[in-house]
Amino acid sequence: MKEIKLGGTIHFYETYGSFSEQEKTLFQCAKNACQRAYAPYSKFKVGAAVLLTNGEILEGNNQENASFPVGLCAERVALFYASSKFPEITVQSIAITIDFATHPDAHIISPCGSCRQAISEYEQKFQNDIKIYLLGQDEKVWIANSIKILLPLSFNGDILK
Ligand code: THU
Repeated sequence: MKEIKLGGTIHFYETYGSFSEQEKTLFQCAKNACQRAYAPYSKFKVGAAVLLTNGEILEGNNQENASFPVGLCAERVALFYASSKFPEITVQSIAITIDFATHPDAHIISPCGSCRQAISEYEQKFQNDIKIYLLGQDEKVWIANSIKILLPLSFNGDILK
């Protein structure tokens, strides 16, 4: 019998002190996007901001619908927006946050399975790890250096070739 270890390390920061100006801008963009979320049904606002290697930042937020399954998560709105606008530019990182004013007891948002799969697609597409910043309250940040940490053993397009 053999064992295979999956997953990896999450890095935890208590302040923004060690982050670059570009990273802090990315975090602020995710927060701004969160405030514009359309979440009249769940009242759970989520914001995401995607940084591309050309320095562009594309924002997204959750978009809900009276027909619930029609809605889309913030992460995918941001990623699809980035991919539709700059299809050939590598995704470098994504920051994700929620509205802590309405959910003060929450720590961070951990992206849903479908969004992990979407992030994984762009890692595969560009053959480049995407850094994932999960923003908490009071400048707390959790970082996964690749979606492979949050979605080990993922399904990917290689098998479809
Ligand atoms: N949501 C996101 O935007 N991202 C996630 O990773 C999980 C959930 C949204 C979907 C829905 O609008 C609301 O949060 C409640 O599930």
